[in-house]
Amino acid sequence: MQFKRANRLKKCIVISGFLLLPALLMSQGLLMNTQNRVTTSLNGLWNYIVDPYETGYYSFHAEIYDQKNPSSSAAFYNNYHQKNKAELVEYDFDKSPVLKVPGDWNTQKENLFYYEGTIWYKRSFDYNLKENNRLFVYFGAVNYKAEVYLNGKKLGIHEGGFTSFNYEITSLVKQKNNYLILKVDNRRMKDAVPAANTDWWNYGGITRDVMLIEEPAVFVQDYSIQLKKGTNRTIAGFIKLNGITKDEKAVISIPEINVEKEIQLTVGGNAVFEIEAGNQISYWSPESPKLYKVSVKTAYQLIHDEIGFRTIETKGPDILLNGKPVFLRGICMHEEINGRRANGKADAVKLLSLSKELGCNYVRLAHYPHSEYMLRMADKMGLMVWEEIPVYWTIDFTNRATYLNAQNQLTEVITRDKNRASVIIWSVANETPLSEARNTFLHDLISHTKTLDTTRLISAALLTRNEKGVGIIDDKIGEWLDIISFNQYRGWYGGDLATAPDAKWTTPYNKPVIVSEFGGDAKQGLHGPKEERWNEEFQEYLYQQNLQMIEKIPNLRGISPWILTDFRSPRRMLPGIQDGFNRKGLVSDKDKKKKAFFLMQAYYKKLALQYNR
Ligand code: GCU
Repeated sequence: MQFKRANRLKKCIVISGFLLLPALLMSQGLLMNTQNRVTTSLNGLWNYIVDPYETGYYSFHAEIYDQKNPSSSAAFYNNYHQKNKAELVEYDFDKSPVLKVPGDWNTQKENLFYYEGTIWYKRSFDYNLKENNRLFVYFGAVNYKAEVYLNGKKLGIHEGGFTSFNYEITSLVKQKNNYLILKVDNRRMKDAVPAANTDWWNYGGITRDVMLIEEPAVFVQDYSIQLKKGTNRTIAGFIKLNGITKDEKAVISIPEINVEKEIQLTVGGNAVFEIEAGNQISYWSPESPKLYKVSVKTAYQLIHDEIGFRTIETKGPDILLNGKPVFLRGICMHEEINGRRANGKADAVKLLSLSKELGCNYVRLAHYPHSEYMLRMADKMGLMVWEEIPVYWTIDFTNRATYLNAQNQLTEVITRDKNRASVIIWSVANETPLSEARNTFLHDLISHTKTLDTTRLISAALLTRNEKGVGIIDDKIGEWLDIISFNQYRGWYGGDLATAPDAKWTTPYNKPVIVSEFGGDAKQGLHGPKEERWNEEFQEYLYQQNLQMIEKIPNLRGISPWILTDFRSPRRMLPGIQDGFNRKGLVSDKDKKKKAFFLMQAYYKKLALQYNR
């Protein structure tokens, strides 16, 4: 950094020879591996104000306070209190009720169950920032749009309900009485990602952890440490330091395989590396989910991680895990448990343990990035993962801002999870209607994914067409995908079950095929003839017939039935049966297994023996 540039900067802080750009100019790069950083949790009870008319944001003439009159006492983010009894103040966070963070607001308060709009959240905190250190506020996820303020200053706006984001607050934080305020708006919008129409509940709120993260003046912001594509003995990647103002060194250590690699970083703060690890690596797999202790050390900090090393690739119709063909015995799941947004480690363990009990070696985390706990637990428990961004159904494919939003969500999830061995597939879409604009949109997302991560496979849940009774999987974007995945609902949304096993499917692609969704509803505990919809016998028969059909599909290398557990959906209203739930779960929202669960479990047990893994 040339010091002569310093005088052009309006506000800058010089700390012991380091020049810190003002927080707003500092790269707001996403911090990853937060569980191994120096953090202070802000989880707990936050005051909230329901603001359907956004009174705390707009003046009565629709002027945005933080643009036109930032210090207005009427702007909720100023957390204003009467200075004398004559003053007019029409809100008070401290006298307002509280919501638990993390958690959706819909299932915490009956009068918020269907609420779609703005709710303000406020949390006060004290903080003693060590001299020369820097402070960030980090959000695991906020659905859908968050406008974040600290001590009345706007930190930024984040769009996207399922990815992490953070802001530097070094120059704004005080020792006492900081007030962190969020305007959270979960309204569904045609040009958002997802758009306005989804088959899942629009859970609003601060739905994942919030924490403060303290870093040294120069800190390890990001790194990728994975097996290099096409090798199984070379560990490669990059390291990014933030705040660097002179050449620095970093050391990557993986003691168990005698790796100790020093890396030179220039003032740009980035460095790529390759490490020959010889033949000492014990590869990660569902049967043996080996994780190594990895550390990155600089002159200012030592950060630990747990990373598994494995190769994933395709060869013709085969998926090869560590060079051996693998069949993905999967299940789809929403980030939902017992009728509420899942969050935290316990929920992750419960959902993934149920998947293991079903006999899975793979899970499709639909239709959006789940919490980091899910990926960390999948690493530990041995489950391969399909991660997806919510480019779902009718996205506004001609809208550039919509594309950039989708691209940003992809960047945020890949930045967070690119060191997780369990993640083998990035998915860019689900059941999107065909058009040239959609093909361009998805092509660009696929290209973008490859710029961020060359080591994983790329797919999307496609739709198929039918010609003279033959199912055809020839979606044009299949050309750019590594795996051809498609959803089909024979026997539920059409097609006859009795003849399903004789159905024919074809695809022009010599690539692995995954049936990414099939299934049907059953109300748990409802029994009757298999010909009658909604009972468990019908669902069991539907699974039996579909599996006999699916196993004949050419290049089939994976299945993920829809879905592990019943989940809330505003689209499912049949009284006494759905009652606002999609009932395709193999397990009810009250943790009761249905007959089809056991049929699928037996099927996977047989399949595991066939692939002897
Ligand atoms: C679709 C969609 C799911 C939906 C499911 C259903 O394929 O991908 O999000 O819930 O089918 O209709 O139950």
